[in-house]
Amino acid sequence: MSEAGNTVVLGVSAGIAVYKSCELLRLFTESGHDVRVVPTRDALRFVGEPTWAALSGNPVATEVWESVHEVPHVRIGQSADLVVVAPATADVLARAAHGMANDLLTNTLLTARCPVVFAPAMHTEMWEHPATRANVATLRERGAVVIEPASGRLTGADTGPGRLPDPAEIYEVCRRVLAGRGGDLAGRHVVVSAGGTREAIDPVRFIGNRSSGLQGYALARTAVARGAEVTLVSANVALPDPAGAKMVRVESATQLREAVLAAAEHADAVVMAAAVADFRPVRQSGTKIKKSAAEPDPIHLTKNPDILAELGETRRAGGGTYPRVIVGFAAETDDVLANGRAKLERKGCDLLVVNQVGENLAFGTPDNAAVVLTAEGESVEIPRGPKEDLADVVWNLVVRRLP
Ligand SMILES: Cc1cc2nc3c(=O)[nH]c(=O)nc-3n(C[C@H](O)[C@H](O)[C@H](O)COP(=O)(O)O)c2cc1C
Repeated sequence: MSEAGNTVVLGVSAGIAVYKSCELLRLFTESGHDVRVVPTRDALRFVGEPTWAALSGNPVATEVWESVHEVPHVRIGQSADLVVVAPATADVLARAAHGMANDLLTNTLLTARCPVVFAPAMHTEMWEHPATRANVATLRERGAVVIEPASGRLTGADTGPGRLPDPAEIYEVCRRVLAGRGGDLAGRHVVVSAGGTREAIDPVRFIGNRSSGLQGYALARTAVARGAEVTLVSANVALPDPAGAKMVRVESATQLREAVLAAAEHADAVVMAAAVADFRPVRQSGTKIKKSAAEPDPIHLTKNPDILAELGETRRAGGGTYPRVIVGFAAETDDVLANGRAKLERKGCDLLVVNQVGENLAFGTPDNAAVVLTAEGESVEIPRGPKEDLADVVWNLVVRRLP
């Protein structure tokens, strides 16, 4: 399916975040999609019909009793390439999970045979209520992509999970779903690490690396679009949070290790895309090291824990629910394949994505090229292209290894 010129149904329900969906609508129309907005009755209390009609260029209805000769309660769903409900209220999730058909949106959800994406937004209590959890689980079991809400400021002064993710990030998920990648990670929990660790020298200085987090974020974004529950362990990344990923922010290799090992216990796959420092200063100064010192003291380094090897060892030792698939990344500057093959064997991972780094290669660029080595000795070449394409190849290889 092409990424433009599709028929998209944008369902909007009565959450306070409905105003953000005007922006989502614009992203679809400006990319050449034909959008039919189907609001619920109560959604129109927040943003009125003229806004949706003017921005979409299409008629807007909430009930099945309008334009009955066109049988909209069936036709709109049948002709859609994608239905996205954003924001999805607790109420609309419940109605959809129970197959209700008491307005045009729920009728459309029952007649649609295309991919369906829900972007829930509500107060944390509503999101965490067992009724909502069960409804979300039901919708996911049936193949819908339900994007985890973001955490942050909610209506009023309270904060927590329940925010509608950034419209641009919801759009990215929809774009990937439209590109035909929906569903094959549904019901899976995957952990992705991204970015580059920082090892403190003193309160203001650190040893870091050039990783931007773009590849790890692409892995998280594509996994969400394929239906996975995603934990993204993010080290010092200045990018917008991918919609639907549970964010865990870390700074150092030690913190990254703790976060990854904790999340990995319940995961089907772990993809270690972060650039983790091999060494850290033995001592960190509690105060800023002054310039005035005659000669600076040398910085002595000690080895950081090898997280990838530890994941493999824990699994080999029979670590209960430890992930079935472990994927490492190797950034090499020379003897790329030989070094990669040796690393794969040393670490005991299932797949190793090897990329050559250097000027304009891998770090901070939107494109990447790599070879994926498998534990069985295969190598899969991924030609230069967007980091999301590389991410999709990695997930294809992961999916093959999942039961
Ligand atoms: C100011 C206000 C804000 C609301 N925000 C939300 C929300 O963010 N998420 C939600 O699930 N319900 C929210 N509600 C409750 C829904 O509007 C209510 O459950 C409504 O019946 C949902 O209708 P719908 O699902 O048909 O759109 C809000 C209600 C009010 C008055």
